[in-house]
Amino acid sequence: MDYKRIVAVQLSTCLGDILRVEEIEKVIEKPKKQNLGDFAFPCFVLAKHWKKAPNVIANELAPKVVHDLFQKVEAVGPYVNVFLDQKQVSKQILDEILRLGNQYGANKNGKGETVTIDLSSPNIAKAFSMGHLRSTVIGNSIANIAEKNGYRPVRINHLGDWGTQFGKLIVAYRKWGDEDAVRKNPISELMKLYLRFHEEAADDPSLEEAAREAFKLLEEGDAENFALWEWFREESLHEFMRIYDLLGVQFDSFAGEAFYNDKMEAVVKLLEEKGLLVESDGAKVVSLEEEGLPPCLVQKSDGATLYATRDLATAIYRKKEYNFIKSLYVVGSEQSLHFQQLKLVLEKAGFQWAKDMEHVSFGMMLRDGKKMSTRKGHVVLLEDALTSAIDRIRKIIEEKNPALGEKEKVSHDVGIGAVIFHDLKHFRTNDVEFSMEQMLNFEGETGPYLQYTHARCHSLLRKGEYTPSTEALEVEDEEAWPILSLLKDFDQVVKLAWREYDPSKIARFALDLARTLNQYYAHVHVLSDEQNKTARLNLIFATATVLKEALRILGLHAPTEM
Ligand code: ARG
Repeated sequence: MDYKRIVAVQLSTCLGDILRVEEIEKVIEKPKKQNLGDFAFPCFVLAKHWKKAPNVIANELAPKVVHDLFQKVEAVGPYVNVFLDQKQVSKQILDEILRLGNQYGANKNGKGETVTIDLSSPNIAKAFSMGHLRSTVIGNSIANIAEKNGYRPVRINHLGDWGTQFGKLIVAYRKWGDEDAVRKNPISELMKLYLRFHEEAADDPSLEEAAREAFKLLEEGDAENFALWEWFREESLHEFMRIYDLLGVQFDSFAGEAFYNDKMEAVVKLLEEKGLLVESDGAKVVSLEEEGLPPCLVQKSDGATLYATRDLATAIYRKKEYNFIKSLYVVGSEQSLHFQQLKLVLEKAGFQWAKDMEHVSFGMMLRDGKKMSTRKGHVVLLEDALTSAIDRIRKIIEEKNPALGEKEKVSHDVGIGAVIFHDLKHFRTNDVEFSMEQMLNFEGETGPYLQYTHARCHSLLRKGEYTPSTEALEVEDEEAWPILSLLKDFDQVVKLAWREYDPSKIARFALDLARTLNQYYAHVHVLSDEQNKTARLNLIFATATVLKEALRILGLHAPTEM
C-alpha cells in the first residue's frame, strides 16, 4: 500500500485546490528520527498563499488531517508530522509481502512501454575494460529497475565492431598474424597486432594508407576482408561471453556499430536535405555553434563515417524498431560531449523523440586513486579479478563452513556479488576504488554481508520449521517497527531509483534493511517464545523476501545457505 499517497490525499482534502496530490507527495519528507513519526509535510509552501507563518499553519492544519491508519498527527515546528498506526500498518505490510512475494514493491507506471538500454558495449579486439564492467553492471541493474516500474527493458550491447581500426587490424594480421595464436588468445593477440601496427606505421606511413584501403574494402563488402573481420568479431565476442556468463548478464541484442554500415548513407542524406551539413576542410559536419559546442563530425573528407554517424543511425533505428519511450546510454562520463552532440543533431533534424534519449553516465574505476587503464598494461585483467573474487570466497567457505552443500555455486554467487555490489553502492557518477579487501569484507557494507544476512534469515526459518502463514501477522516487539517501516518504503525506493537511474538507492535500502534486521536479532530471541514465534518468523521471512528482491534488482543472487 502506498502510505505516502494516503497522507497526500488526506492533506489535499484539507487544502482544497491549493496543491495537487502529486505536488504534496513530492514535498513530503521522511522525518530524520523515528520518534518524529513516519511522514513530515513542510508548510513553507503554504506560507505565501495564506500569508501566515509556517509554524502557525502547521498548528492549524495538523488536527484536520485524520485517517483510520494514522495514530496521530502533530505539528512539529513548521511541519505536519504523521504517525502511522503501527499495529494496523505492520499487519498490512506483512500480509502484502506474503501475498505478493517478489512482486512486492513493483508498480505499473511504465504501462509496458519500451525502454532501450545501451550497455556494456565493449570494442572488438580490445580488452574488456573496467569501464565496460561498470556499464554492464549499472546498465543491467537499471534494466531491472525499469522492469520493476512496469517498463519493458531491451538490453542492447552496442559492440564497437566497426571503424578504421579494423582496416589496421586486417593489414597487421596479413603481415604478422598467426592463426593458431589468435584462436588461443584472441583478444591479447589482436591487441598485440594492433600495437605492432602503430609501432611500424611510425616508420612506414604506407601502412596507414593500406589500412584505409582495407577498411574501405570492408565497408564495401569485400569477401576476404569481411571474413577476417567476422572471425575477429566472433573470437572476441566468445571471450566477452565468458565475462557475461560470470556476471549473469544477458542481452536482447548485439547489434553493434557494424550493423549500421548500410544505414548511414540515409542519415547523411537526411542531414543534407535538412540543410544541416556544412563543409569543413573537405569533411561534413553539423555546426553546433549556437549551442556553444564543437561541431559534430559526420563524414570524413575521404567519405568514411565515424562513431557519431553510427550513433545517429542507431538512435533512429532504435526508435523505429522498438518505439522506445526512453532510450538510455549507460556510458562513461568522458563521452558526455558525444551524447550531447548526438541529441542536439537529432533535435535539429526534427526528431521530437530525441528528448527521450538520456546519457546515463558514470565515473571511473580507480586503483590506488588512479584511473585503471588497459593501455598502460596495469589493468587487473577483468576475468582474473572476477575469478579471484570467487576463489577467495571459496577459501573462506572451506574454512568456516566446510560442510556446506553447493559450495561452488555459493562461492560464485558471493564472489561475483561482491564485485557487483561494490560498484553499485556508490552513486554512479562517483569514481570507485577497486579494492578486493573492501568488497569481500563480510562485516562491511558489502554484497557478502547482505547475502550472509539473507542466508541467516533462512537458517532461522529452517530451525523454526517455518511455513508462511497469514494467520499470525501481529508482531508485538517494539524493535520490529524500524524493519517494517523500511519495508513499507520499498515501493518509494523503487520509484526513486528509476527516476534518477540510480541503483545505489536500492543498494542503500538493502544495507539499511540488513542493519535493522541484525539489530532486531540482537534484541529478540525469535525462536524462544512459542506464542510469538510464527509472527516473528513471518517478519523474518518477509524481510528475507524483500532483501532477496533488492539483491536481484542489483544483479546478485541470494543463496539460502552459506
Ligand atoms: N564502444 C564504446 C566504447 O567502448 C561504447 C559505446 C557506447 N554506446 C554507444 N551507442 N555509443 O567506448
